[in-house]
Amino acid sequence: MSQYLLQMNGIVKSFGGVHALNGIDIKVRPGECVGLCGENGAGKSTLMKVLSAVYPWGTWQGEILWDGQPLKAHSISETEAAGIVIIHQELTLVPDLSVAENIFMGHELTLPGGRMNYPAMIHRAEALMRELKVPDMNVSLPVSQYGGGYQQLVEIAKALNKQARLLILDEPSSALTRSEIDVLLHIVRDLKAKGVACVYISHKLDEVAAVCDTISVIRDGKHVATTAMADMDIPRIITQMVG
Ligand SMILES: Nc1ncnc2c1ncn2[C@@H]1O[C@H](COP(=O)(O)OP(=O)(O)OP(=O)(O)O)[C@@H](O)[C@H]1O
Ligand SMILES: [Mg+2]
Repeated sequence: MSQYLLQMNGIVKSFGGVHALNGIDIKVRPGECVGLCGENGAGKSTLMKVLSAVYPWGTWQGEILWDGQPLKAHSISETEAAGIVIIHQELTLVPDLSVAENIFMGHELTLPGGRMNYPAMIHRAEALMRELKVPDMNVSLPVSQYGGGYQQLVEIAKALNKQARLLILDEPSSALTRSEIDVLLHIVRDLKAKGVACVYISHKLDEVAAVCDTISVIRDGKHVATTAMADMDIPRIITQMVG
């Protein structure tokens, strides 16, 4: 069996005539955190949307191997079932639903007979928010009652509630405070220790350097280099990003 959990080989994705991805290769081992770095428009989010089947198999070229086997997913529910969970750059919450309902969207806990098990969902949502160090959040309130940073934490809780083998974090910290970012980095380290792999995308290279084992840089839809963080520093990442 492959030592890699994930291999993406020669991924090409076009929008009309525009080549957003032009033959990208990346690999991730179990428990490894790969920092995916590149300037605005380099293709980071597009690559992760290919992986999570936001862009289904057949709408891009190349090959994805998951646990050494070809992955040809048609929907996000298929990739989630495989253990690929993405926290998107854009918030995907439903403003009028409660924090707990948002966390369990599409994965609702039910009672025998099929009715919603709200007490169990509220209990679990509270535990997740405690883990994220926001114990004061009322998970029964509409998520729109909370500001951008809290909503980003709800997105993270929603992802943590799924059984990820690979967690993709696409700019997870843009609306977070310093102490919230520290909690997030701590959680990522915990997940790594449990063998969960991560792809971490952030323009904040200090975060990337703090948590990632490996840095893959892409530029203009092409792979530039993949280097162990131990052999890297922030100025070298920037040099690779800008070319
Ligand atoms: N749905 C789309 N339709 C057309 N072009 C798109 C679409 N999504 C992305 N692109 C283009 O593909 C390229 C890569 O975009 P992408 O969003 O993947 O970049 P990124 O590396 O995530 O950038 P950022 O750091 O700003 O988030 C850009 O040129 C972008 O304009
Ligand atoms: Mg992006």
